[in-house]
Amino acid sequence: MKICLVTALFLSSMIFAGVQAAEGVSAQELLETPMDIVVYRSPTCGCCGKWLQHLKQHDFNVIDNVTENMQGIKDKYGITNSLASCHTAIINGHIVEGHVPAGDIKSMLKAKSDIKGLAVPGMVAGTPGMEMGAKKMPFKVLAFDKQGNMALYKSYEEY
Ligand code: CU
Ligand code: CU
Repeated sequence: MKICLVTALFLSSMIFAGVQAAEGVSAQELLETPMDIVVYRSPTCGCCGKWLQHLKQHDFNVIDNVTENMQGIKDKYGITNSLASCHTAIINGHIVEGHVPAGDIKSMLKAKSDIKGLAVPGMVAGTPGMEMGAKKMPFKVLAFDKQGNMALYKSYEEY
């Protein structure tokens, strides 16, 4: 519990240091060692737990924080209403909002771009943790920068 808190504080301080914090660690190293991801979620969110399973299946080390004050977390990390989803996660100074696929988180870290974070706004059926049977539903992953500008990061098609 103590270790989790320390890690959370460390990671939140890294937000302000920006992407530079990841320098000194090669992208390859980032992908070969277990990646700590700090997740904030509400106790009443069922799909959040399924997204955590998805992350674990893709070799992320999930540091799970259940909180009643998700709005406080959104405010702290600058998640606007147009980006907001159920859970908010922090990894290497980047923000992951909502049901973003693990592969996109890895590609964001590997690229070392100035992307502040990735988001799948809202609660979109077909995303990891919100699958609707075997059918794949279309959804979009957005990238956002520190100014709040959004751009399409990846589009998943229906098939
Ligand atoms: Cu959700
Ligand atoms: Cu969630």
